[in-house]
Amino acid sequence: MAAHRVAAVKFNLGQLFRRDKNRVARFSLDAAGLFIDYSKNRIEPQTRDLLVRLAEARDVGAGRDAMLAGQRINVTEDRAVLHVALRAGQGQTASPDRAIRDAIAAELARVRTWAESFGRGQLETDSVQITDILHLGIGGSDLAPRLALEALAPFARPRPRVHFVSNVDGAAMADALRGLDPHTTAIVVVSKSFSTEETLANARIAKAWLVGAMGEEEASRQLVAVTSESGRAMQFGVSGENCFRMLDGVGGRYSLWSTVGLTLAAAIGFQRFQELLDGARAMDEHFMTAPLAENAPVILALLGIWNSDFLGAEAQAVVPYAERLRLLPNYLQQLDMESNGKSVTRDGVAVDYPTAPIVFGTAGTDGQHAYFQLLHQGTRLVPVDFIAVAEAMSDYADHHALLLANCFAQGAALMRGKTQTEVLAELKAAGIPLSKARALAPHKVFSGNRPSTTILLPRLDPRSLGALIALYEHKVFVQGQIWGINSFDQWGVELGKALGRSVRPALDGTAATGLDASTLGLVARVRTKAR
Ligand code: F6P
Repeated sequence: MAAHRVAAVKFNLGQLFRRDKNRVARFSLDAAGLFIDYSKNRIEPQTRDLLVRLAEARDVGAGRDAMLAGQRINVTEDRAVLHVALRAGQGQTASPDRAIRDAIAAELARVRTWAESFGRGQLETDSVQITDILHLGIGGSDLAPRLALEALAPFARPRPRVHFVSNVDGAAMADALRGLDPHTTAIVVVSKSFSTEETLANARIAKAWLVGAMGEEEASRQLVAVTSESGRAMQFGVSGENCFRMLDGVGGRYSLWSTVGLTLAAAIGFQRFQELLDGARAMDEHFMTAPLAENAPVILALLGIWNSDFLGAEAQAVVPYAERLRLLPNYLQQLDMESNGKSVTRDGVAVDYPTAPIVFGTAGTDGQHAYFQLLHQGTRLVPVDFIAVAEAMSDYADHHALLLANCFAQGAALMRGKTQTEVLAELKAAGIPLSKARALAPHKVFSGNRPSTTILLPRLDPRSLGALIALYEHKVFVQGQIWGINSFDQWGVELGKALGRSVRPALDGTAATGLDASTLGLVARVRTKAR
């Protein structure tokens, strides 16, 4: 592999395309309705063979089977990893034990009942007309439902309207509540741990808002929790029947398919929610059965490792050319960086290779007018995942053609670049004197040879979205397996949370211990300004 890398550093995408007329067929695949063209990566057939061998050597197949069988592969939390089981339905091939399958089916049935009651225009247990849902959660309890609801907006029923608040900025809560009527709003508090400070702070405001309008008893009928800690939720004031259970083995960032999808299911209807699960299951089946060299999540994972660990890329851009997918990069940031932003292996040994990249992106074409300059001419290598949708997402067909043309052109430009000779010829044709042209040329040269992958969805519907999200979930899993890290814990977020608890009293003027001079200085400055 090391020897191949030395040769590969000199690979030129233009040459690779000229040399191999079948390159696109060789380096593209179909999976669960998605088409993935990865021909614009700096690889040859031998590169893929070697990378697949790496995956085999790191037991990707065995790791996958252990996850699907419900083994406790999340070693640091001693938990199984059950998100695939959530969407496996009755015909599960590999599956965790019966009790877990029954629990999943039972909660899904409850989600169905709840979602369908909205179809009838009221909450099932209630005569109250609920027009709006306020979904309170953060991280995995927010990002995927928010992404999915925006992506699937055309499938949403007129009622209920769903509003999200995640941040612990009172302005966000104030803005959300301003437009809502407590008599017709259900508050859905989504928190696996039911101890996340931001979510609880927002939930307290929302509860007080309901209680202020209608009293404790009435309010509790409109207060719903999605959690694996129903005891805490009930202490907070949620009735037992309004608690939807999250399984211990479902990590927040993998939980869209669980009761966390409650508000989404209410908004788009249970049938559409089921289609989302079906799309994910189609990708699961592909992941379980396709040979590694033709396995979409495995290939994406290997390309990521090739680009970062062998070619030196430190970031990964994700650019959906679909406004409705504009939250995909936010969601993938948590999925990828919280899962694989680790520096020790499962055994606690420091790694000596890069793990998760810095994931960023925005909707195209917006990104073209912001950070694409760096992608084309910057000093860093930043591979791009372009996401495009074949079918128009509005009646403005010309817009769609323009959107797709931009998407495909960006991938082509990153690959092709522009040589000095081409630039000089252009400038000459434009009548620019040679001396000026020579001075300008270095600024107009594009090195090209920059890798990208294009993922094409047939249309933006629940099935394709489910397949797309599952594709990335499995990609992240495969990378974690190859890097030997635990993709399912997130200890790195704990320290900041703990320190937050010591800073908080200092802001109220209580003497704080253990805080550094810089933090104390900032606290003092805020307290002076606040007076
Ligand atoms: O950011 C840390 C984290 O624990 C995420 O992993 C999780 O998705 C988020 O906080 C919210 O956690 P909870 O659902 O327990 O409120």
